[in-house]
Amino acid sequence: MMGNVFVLDHPLIQHKLTYVRKTETGTKEFRELVDEIAGLMAYEITRDLPVEEVTIETPVTTTKSYVLTGKKIGIVPILRAGLGMVEGVLRHIPTAKVGHVGLYRDPDTLMPHEYYFKMPNDIEERDLIVVDPMLATGGSASDAIQSLKNRGAKSIKLMCLIAAPEGVEAIREAHPEVDIYLAAMDEKLNDHGYIVPGLGDAGDRLYGTK
Ligand code: URA
Repeated sequence: MMGNVFVLDHPLIQHKLTYVRKTETGTKEFRELVDEIAGLMAYEITRDLPVEEVTIETPVTTTKSYVLTGKKIGIVPILRAGLGMVEGVLRHIPTAKVGHVGLYRDPDTLMPHEYYFKMPNDIEERDLIVVDPMLATGGSASDAIQSLKNRGAKSIKLMCLIAAPEGVEAIREAHPEVDIYLAAMDEKLNDHGYIVPGLGDAGDRLYGTK
């Protein structure tokens, strides 16, 4: 099955994204906005979660209503910037478990090197949402998804704030079954690997480092 690319163009998401992009937005506001956007995106991407009908008692009568059923969710932030999206998702899916993955490409061999990988022990039974604000070359997201597949993950979605077309292509090529959810698809990557127009370095802007 071929995964799809969804740009979540909800007005609230687009409005907040504008302020996330602006240079003058400081660390505190930037962090709050990323959190809020991640929450709104989580709301949108869980639209197709299965529900089942149950019978309940209200103080007035017996009625039928719905509860979530099906697989449990796992949130997988890619260190470090992905951490900024975790709480927003958890606000809507508070029972989700969170696995962390940290990796970099060895500059000589270009092989991915995982320096941290800690997952819930049942990832093969969970719907995993990998989160990372910027999908630039797609290298780290692709490597993280591969690491999850190597450990048995079967259901993976990727959720990013902003992507470059190059990054989306890389994921579609390496992991064609993975659905990609974005707040915006930008123009391109520049020579330094930054997304244009983008928002700069998401990790630095989240944590006030330079
Ligand atoms: N990572 C970022 O934080 N920003 C970019 O523009 C590209 C990669």
